[in-house]
Amino acid sequence: MVCEVSYITKLMNDRDTKTKRALDAEEKAEQEIRYLSDQISEHDVLYYQFDSPSISDEEYDLLRARLRDLEMRFPKLKSQDSPSQRVGHLASDSAFKKIKHLKPVFSLDNAFSDEQASAFIEKSARFLNLEKNTPIEWIADPKIDGLAMVLRYVNGELISAATRGNGEEGEDVTKNAKTICDIPNSLINYDGPSEIEIRGEVYIMEADFQKMNADRKKEDLVPFANSRNCASGSLRQLDDTITASRPLRFLGYGFTDIGEKSYEDGMKRLASWGIPVQLSLRCRSVDDVIKSFRYFSSLREKNRIGYAIDGVVYKINNLEWQKRLGSSARAPRFAFAYKFRSEEQITTIEDISVQVGRTGVITPVAHVDPVLVGGVVVRRASLHNEDEISRKDVRIGDKVVLRRAGDVIPKIESVIESMRNSSSKPFNFPNLCPSCGSELFREPSKSAVKCINSFACPAQSIWKIRHFTSKQAFNIAGMGEQTIKTFINFGLIRLVDDIFDLHQKRNQIEQLDGFGKKATTNLLTAIENSREISLDRFIFSLGIPEIGESASKELAKHYLSIDNLVSAACALSSSYDPAITPFSDLTNIDGIGSSTATQLRDFFSFRDNECLVRSLISKVKVAPFSHEKIKNSSQFFGKTIVFTGRLETMSRSEAKSIAEKLGAKVMNSVSSKTDFLIVGKGGGSKLEEAEYMGVQCVSESEWARQSSMLI
Ligand code: IVH
Repeated sequence: MVCEVSYITKLMNDRDTKTKRALDAEEKAEQEIRYLSDQISEHDVLYYQFDSPSISDEEYDLLRARLRDLEMRFPKLKSQDSPSQRVGHLASDSAFKKIKHLKPVFSLDNAFSDEQASAFIEKSARFLNLEKNTPIEWIADPKIDGLAMVLRYVNGELISAATRGNGEEGEDVTKNAKTICDIPNSLINYDGPSEIEIRGEVYIMEADFQKMNADRKKEDLVPFANSRNCASGSLRQLDDTITASRPLRFLGYGFTDIGEKSYEDGMKRLASWGIPVQLSLRCRSVDDVIKSFRYFSSLREKNRIGYAIDGVVYKINNLEWQKRLGSSARAPRFAFAYKFRSEEQITTIEDISVQVGRTGVITPVAHVDPVLVGGVVVRRASLHNEDEISRKDVRIGDKVVLRRAGDVIPKIESVIESMRNSSSKPFNFPNLCPSCGSELFREPSKSAVKCINSFACPAQSIWKIRHFTSKQAFNIAGMGEQTIKTFINFGLIRLVDDIFDLHQKRNQIEQLDGFGKKATTNLLTAIENSREISLDRFIFSLGIPEIGESASKELAKHYLSIDNLVSAACALSSSYDPAITPFSDLTNIDGIGSSTATQLRDFFSFRDNECLVRSLISKVKVAPFSHEKIKNSSQFFGKTIVFTGRLETMSRSEAKSIAEKLGAKVMNSVSSKTDFLIVGKGGGSKLEEAEYMGVQCVSESEWARQSSMLI
């Protein structure tokens, strides 16, 4: 899909040649307008619905600019539903109803080497703390490169189909999913619970994909860049006859409780109901895992899988153990994806520029001669930082190895020095910020160069606002990068809190190019709907370096309300002594290290940041953290506990995870704030300290009794 920009350039060049001049200009413009409209619509779907644009903003802008230009020159050819008449696909965003999943849909942790895979397996084993030599079975199945689908069946009848969405709720694509032959409307001989969810992947067979692209070319339509883009675009059609015309398939890989004890048995049961499932391998050791990975890799290399896969997923077979392992904020602890090694290509560095990131870090970016890597045309690759450029001695004009590992940002792997040309030019790292012109700083002993002009630097404020409005933060649909840029340019917003005053600027917004009454209303409604937010999301939205979703949750659990957090953080920032109480209190929270605490302190030590947070609090409603789902009948609910000694019934990590589910805070050391000390074998010095301070001590058996309420 990405090759279209060069196609346009070609058309523009062709236009100048004598032969092409002979062609009827209007006919050609009509062709190109049709082509551009298709392209823009497809990119809109990728950008707005999947958050995974396959071209850069500049390239996208170029497509739109070209369309506008042609429509101005040939007004007759401008259709009412031209993409130039709308901003992205906001309409279709609301066209799909939301469906809440019965259980959250997680993503997976990745391993890229045997060592990483084996480390994951060992960590899970430690967590389970089983008797020595108890084998743990892992099921290996190919990781299909499509899009996740959640099917809900009631009494064996398909009642809904949803995309993954934000993991909690997805978009209702039932009508479209029903056109996929692999998805049964009624399960055969259904004998399961009344309501279940079956999870799996919608994908396209390689051969069907090739044929489809060949047909598109014949019809002068632009081919899809890869089968995943094609599958996702096809499923998100508003017109289900288009979905029906695409060769979509489905394979199951998960289910909610159906009364089975193992994943393997569950999959057999799914198959007996008519759900297609794939070939899986059972592994009983790390060695088996590595062998199975090699096996699937070789099948893939020989093109014997038949559809695109990007790794192998490993899941613990025993469902009881899966339940015990549970999940962290992002991914389950009982499953991981071992990804195939990325594909590499040789290309030339045409230029190097620098980008300003959300936190002000300046990242050098290599602009390369476009190359196809893993089905995607790559034009840019990260060079990480100044040191990396020096270490690899990367120069403009060099031939380099470019690597793209799965979905991650392409990077320059190495320089092929033997091919170096005498005209290659070393890159001089700038001293001034390319966005605001202020002087750049390099932190002592760190490789990152930063612009510390923060919100006053336009490049950073775009990132910060984009992060603030993102799904995991305030989740304001329609407030994408383009809109933010426009609003900043027109002075409608400067800082994130200005978003909540936009309703007073309705008239100005409606005047903007592409913003009619309807789009403005949609946006303002989305903003209104976002005004109430949970404490952890609020903390995350501030975009404080190193305070991601998981740290935000820990902070929310610890401070419970925004007022508590702000006063603690401000007290913290007025003192720079790490030994003082507020700081050590913070680093004592499990999951918050001293560098995270330092970031929080540094953020609030900027008066502007503190004012911004206070202004935000006055405009939105931050719900206090609540342990709603937790069994608050437990004596540990809301208490601070410390573990000591060796626990015999479970590992420390499992104990910690259970404690959190019970609504307790786990600290590493005993202090006057400790409510309980859970004592395992050989209590040690913490036991003495607790006794001295009068902290209540609880035996492991009592702890096990209470925690069993949860498992
Ligand atoms: S299992 C809790 N098995 O990969 C485990 N996922 O990166 C849930 N995927 O969102 C996933 N093939 O869409 C599983 N054989 C497979 C898979 C698979 C593809 C996708 C799935 C998931 C993503 C995670």
